[in-house]
Amino acid sequence: MELKDMLYEGKAKQVFLTENPNRVVVRYKDTATAFNNIKKATIVGKGKVTSAISALLYEYLAKAGIKTHFVELVDECDQLCRRVQVIPLEVVVRNTIAGSMAQRLGVEEGVEPQNVIYDLYYKRDDLDDPLMNDHHAVALELVSYEELKVIYGLAEQINTLLLELFRRAGIRLVDFKMEFGRTPEGEIILADELSPDTCRLWDIETGEKLDKDRFRRDLGRVREAYELILTRLQAVKN
Ligand code: TMP
Ligand code: ASP
Repeated sequence: MELKDMLYEGKAKQVFLTENPNRVVVRYKDTATAFNNIKKATIVGKGKVTSAISALLYEYLAKAGIKTHFVELVDECDQLCRRVQVIPLEVVVRNTIAGSMAQRLGVEEGVEPQNVIYDLYYKRDDLDDPLMNDHHAVALELVSYEELKVIYGLAEQINTLLLELFRRAGIRLVDFKMEFGRTPEGEIILADELSPDTCRLWDIETGEKLDKDRFRRDLGRVREAYELILTRLQAVKN
């Protein structure tokens, strides 16, 4: 596939234009960052495995009727995707309390609340991606109330589908982050990536962390944990 100019470079991915104005190629990089780029490293082979996991999850969701930007893998780290206007919100779904929510509200990591928690963060590196609510997002004209309703509906469906798949793979889906985009027709679809870089995944039996917290918390064997996730998902995806 012939790539044109780079449209955008983020911390973990690059986006290239293609000959088709409605398609981009998303390249998954080997870089890992945390705490808004304060901690950085190269993990050789990570791009390949995060791309493979993301592709597998997007194909699984597509089979269940969820529209995503993913079209096909064109190379190990390169995904052909629909070009969308990305909504600058990180939509986080929490089934188990961990990470920033555990810290901010003084809750022990691992507590399972009676309800699923949905958070919005404003994607603004210069502000450290602040937590915001629906009204803030509408006031800043990032999204409309109607679009938020669609986004929360999709988030709930995606969570149900992913919880089931990961459970079959022996993995607890603690929390995860999504980004959504608008198509030229104004439809909202799932964009960005879904991988151990953007999810918390714990082994159901042992509680072992198999996600980016291994990097954030210096637990080692990051790529190996990601590869284990891929192997387990491949075994149960059908
Ligand atoms: P948090 O506990 O730091 O708020 O993260 C919640 C989930 O969102 C966790 O699975 C990691 C993911 N996440 C990202 O993918 N990107 C980010 O920039 C942040 C802050 C979290
Ligand atoms: N991905 C974010 C960063 O690089 C934050 C994180 O995941 O910890 O800053």
